[in-house]
Amino acid sequence: MIFDGKKIVLAISGGIAAYKSCELLRELRRKGANVRVMMTPGAREFVAPLTFAALSEHPVLTDAFALSENAEIEHIKWARWAEVIVVCPATANTIARIAHGFADEPVSVTIRAARVPIVICPAMNSAMWEDRLVQRNVTLLREAGYRIVEPEQGPLATSSEGEGWGRLARLEWVLSALLAALQGEQPLKGKKILITAGRTEEYFDPVRMLTNPSSGKMGFALSEAAVALGAEKVVLVHGPTNLPAPYKVQRVPVVSAADMYKAAMAHYEGTDILVMSAAVSDYRPASVSSEKIKKLPGKLTLELESTEDILYALGQRKTKAIHVGFAVETFDEIENARSKLRRKNLDFIVVNNPRDTGAGFGTDTNQVAILDAKGNIEKLPLLSKLEVALQILKRIL
Ligand SMILES: Cc1cc2nc3c(=O)[nH]c(=O)nc-3n(C[C@H](O)[C@H](O)[C@H](O)COP(=O)(O)O)c2cc1C
Repeated sequence: MIFDGKKIVLAISGGIAAYKSCELLRELRRKGANVRVMMTPGAREFVAPLTFAALSEHPVLTDAFALSENAEIEHIKWARWAEVIVVCPATANTIARIAHGFADEPVSVTIRAARVPIVICPAMNSAMWEDRLVQRNVTLLREAGYRIVEPEQGPLATSSEGEGWGRLARLEWVLSALLAALQGEQPLKGKKILITAGRTEEYFDPVRMLTNPSSGKMGFALSEAAVALGAEKVVLVHGPTNLPAPYKVQRVPVVSAADMYKAAMAHYEGTDILVMSAAVSDYRPASVSSEKIKKLPGKLTLELESTEDILYALGQRKTKAIHVGFAVETFDEIENARSKLRRKNLDFIVVNNPRDTGAGFGTDTNQVAILDAKGNIEKLPLLSKLEVALQILKRIL
């Protein structure tokens, strides 16, 4: 699990979004984290500590003056215990207190005593978020090295507030920011990564197409992993999918292989690492009917033509970038992947067999082997796609 054994302090301040922290806590625990919760006095007006104590299976820190049974100072103990502290939600008031060095309630005093990454997730109404002093305080925190998960635009807490900026970032983004904070070194710092993901759709009339079951999960996981490892720019060219937008990733949605070819070529300039995980159609219908093809007795023959070979084309443009390809093979996986690696001028190829349990299309897990141009092969165990993605990027680095 991606947060296995990670020690995370969840700090909650007094905003409406405090109820969302219950779900954040559950999600972190589902992903293997060890979580402790501390609350400002304001937060206790919104959700009772009992809820967080039960969900974290640990007492909640609500008193800046608390001592443990052995007379240790609780907030110092918690500050030393944590690998990361996440303030979620962070109110305008708590942001101000942290930014100006206060240390008079559990959250600010623990943060003062900590030497670990701090992730701040502001949530407030749009007028508060746009307030110049709030913005100045956020800038102060950012300059001091705190990681800010910017709030989103959308419906605010009450109907009178309508829509606006200030809504707590979606929990997937908070989790991505935590994953990044826990990576320690940032080996992709300053790098541009171009990733392709998902399937392509090749229409032969207005309502029918040739495609495959690729969900895009592997490529989306790669983009999240690239952000977690500190990449400066991550561009994700992806086919049709329902997956939510990953944190800090520039998405370029496309439909057909031809669209994907154009988008990949257009975004390749300056790429340091190219990872082509998309399941691009090798063929498309040679002609597209402008009207729906009617059902007639007998057979229907579709003539197919080859699509653009994106990996090959980018291989021709390759100068400094590392190229990583993916191969889905149902037989002779290693031999077929090795031949693809050579033909497409790749540095690495990641191969998986969708017939293996837990691997391939649509699953949340994958089991892959990584081959390099020197002939080395490394087989990874069955892991979540996000763990596979982190392993792939760490290996190629
Ligand atoms: C119903 C209600 C909802 C509130 N929601 C927010 C909010 O979403 N964000 C915020 O910054 N402040 C919000 N406030 C104001 C804070 O609760 C107030 O500033 C409080 O002092 C925050 O204390 P704390 O930061 O120590 O938890 C809200 C207040 C009320 C009464």
